[in-house]
Parts: sequence; C-alpha cells; structure tokens
Amino acid sequence: MQTLDVELGPRSYPIYIGSGLIGRANLYSPHIDGHQVMIVTNETVAPLYLETVQQAVADFEVHTTVLPDGEQYKSMDTLNSIFDSLLTARCDRRTTVIALGGGVVGDIGGFAAACYQRGIGLIQVPTTLLAQVDSSVGGKTAVNHAQAKNMIGAFYQPRAVIADTDTLLSLADRELAAGVAEVIKYGLIRDADFFEWLEVNMDALLRRDPDTLMFAIERSCRNKAQVVAADEREQGDRALLNLGHTFAHAIETATGYNTWLHGEAVATGIVMATDLSFRLQHIGEAEYQRVSHLIEGAQLPQTPPADISPQQFLTHMALDKKVAQGNIRLVLLKRIGQAYLADAYPPAKLMETLERFSTASA
Ligand code: NAD
Ligand code: GLY
Repeated sequence: MQTLDVELGPRSYPIYIGSGLIGRANLYSPHIDGHQVMIVTNETVAPLYLETVQQAVADFEVHTTVLPDGEQYKSMDTLNSIFDSLLTARCDRRTTVIALGGGVVGDIGGFAAACYQRGIGLIQVPTTLLAQVDSSVGGKTAVNHAQAKNMIGAFYQPRAVIADTDTLLSLADRELAAGVAEVIKYGLIRDADFFEWLEVNMDALLRRDPDTLMFAIERSCRNKAQVVAADEREQGDRALLNLGHTFAHAIETATGYNTWLHGEAVATGIVMATDLSFRLQHIGEAEYQRVSHLIEGAQLPQTPPADISPQQFLTHMALDKKVAQGNIRLVLLKRIGQAYLADAYPPAKLMETLERFSTASA
C-alpha cells in the first residue's frame, strides 16, 4: 500500500492506494468520530463491494443508502433522498458518510456530508479509475442542475480516501478508458515525464496490469494532491485541472448527461483545447499529433457529436463556471507538461476550433 497526504493543515488527509484495501477495518476506524456510519453507494456497486465495506466498519452502527446508477441521478432529488435516509436512521452530527462508488456517488455523497447538520465526516472509497485519480481527491462535491453540470455544490474535504485497485477489475473497459482521460490530463498540464510514460505504457494500463495501474494512480493522485494543497478553492492554478472540461461540460449538457461518459467528453475536450493551443501557435503540429495519438490509443473519442453546432457549444460553454468577465476562460497548453489559463485569446480562433470539430463529426 502507498499512502499520500493531501496537505491542508488541520484538514490534511491520507490517500491510501493499493490492493485489498476496502475490507481493512484499520483504514476506516481512525477517521470515524462518532458511532454511526452511513454508506452511500449505488445499485451497481452495492452487490459487488457493499458487504465487504459493511464488515470493515461493523464495530459502528451501520446504515446504507443505495442510489440508482447514473449521472442523471446526480440531482437535488437524489441528494434529498440521502437526507431522508440520514434522518430516518436518526443519524447525529458525528455520523460519517462513506461514499462507495464512482465519481457520481463520491460527488453526491460528499455534498450530502457537507450539508447534513452543516457538515459531518466523510470517507471517500472510490471504485472507478476516474474517481481514484481525480474526483475522490480534493474536496469538490456537487450535484448537477438541468441547465449546467456541477452547479450546486461545496468544497468539502474527506477525512481519508481509500482507493482499492482491486475494485477496478470489475469495471467495464469503457469506464476504465474514461478514467484514463483524467490521467492523461495530469501529464499534459504539469508532468511531461508522466505523459511520456503514458505513451509507452498505455496498452499495459488498459490491460490493467497491476504495477502499471498502481503507478498511474499514485502519480495522478500525487499531482492532484500538490495542486489542491497549493490552491484548495481554485483561486488560481487548480483551475488548470479543468483542461478540456469547458468543452466537455458543453458536450455533456448538450447530450443530457446520459450518452457520453464524463471522461469521454473530457478526452474530446482535451483534443479541442489542444487544437486551439495549436491555432494560437503555442504548440506545433507534432505535439498536437502526440496528444491526439495518445487519446486514440486510450480508445477515447476525439470528436464531439455531430449535432452540436459551434453556436450551441458557445452557449453551453458560457454557462460553465469558468467564465471570467464575459470571456470563456479556457485551459490551454503552452507545451506538453505546461498548461495556462487563457481568457484573452482572439474569439475567432475558438470559433475556428469549434467549426473544425463540428465539420469533423458531420
Ligand atoms: P460513475 O460514478 O457514473 O461510475 C461509472 C459507472 O461504473 C457507473 O455505472 C458505476 O455504477 C459503475 N461502477 C463504479 N465502480 C464500479 C466497479 N468497481 N465495478 C463495476 N462498475 C462500477 O462515473 P465516474 O466516471 O466514476 O465519475 C464521473 C463523475 O465524477 C461525474 O459526475 C463528474 O462530474 C465527476 N467528477 C468529479 C470530480 C471532482 O473533483 N469532484 C472530478 C472529476 C469528475
Ligand atoms: N477535477 C477538477 C478539480 O478537482 O479541481
């Protein structure tokens, strides 16, 4: 097992990464205050891992909420159903929520913990690659609004993250690939050596070779922990973690959150951001091709759905949180391994990118 720390002063917490962790009682108990635990999971993950986690925390009074599965349930109604469960079980303010599942369960379970009685304990137990390398770390919690994704939420750090690499063995190939999009993101924004490592090791990663998976998760979490420690509330460089995400959120909103996986939308968004970086002459054709090739090698999509027009993209992108003083703020690449926040680029260049991808997918 590897342990990394997210350094946030008195709210610092460990990320445990390794095989066979979800059943280890001693990883949970130091991070549970009171006598009550509410495990929040979903109907897909529950039959696979709920019993193991229930046994690991059996010394406590254990309650469970099983949510329907899907991004479309990352909603206020589902959030309310978690509050109903907490109240019905008479959970007090020292209760600890254990969010067992992918990013959807982590985000909504985390937000429930942030709100219930003004904030109760939270342990993230991520079971998708995307959740292990990204969403479970750093304290962003949210639900979606019909008009835009992740619009209602809170920064709320967990007390621990338990990332059991064995859980990834039951994950669908498509879901694994979606997580790889966020892994590639770290290489692109701040870790060129990691990007090169991914170029060499992508096949082994997709095969779920244990050492390769472990390295990729650990390196991704290390990058994320450093970014979050330096800028917990996204006043500056944390925004670089959103490479590709403004394009991605437009794709997800336009398609209604239920056809494209978040990581797939991020992959396409990364290619679009790379295209714009090329048009702005930050990077050359060869670097664009390396990014495109790696995304393709990860079996991820590179073009948005044909029916999203450039104008629709702009409308959805303008609703995204990352809009500064009327300009759509984007994360772009200076080179592979260095990203920056751009809000003063010529709008015509963004339109060129949107038109190119609109045509590419027609
Ligand atoms: P997800 O939570 O929908 O999980 C994907 C699918 O895999 C679901 O059907 C789920 O039930 C299933 N699943 C989960 N674990 C499994 C396992 N071990 N074996 C088999 N099936 C399993 O999707 P995701 O990709 O994990 O997360 C996407 C969400 O994360 C989005 O809502 C996104 O906005 C959010 N996100 C949040 C942050 C953050 O910082 N908070 C960062 C990135 C993404
Ligand atoms: N996934 C982006 C962030 O955590 O800031």
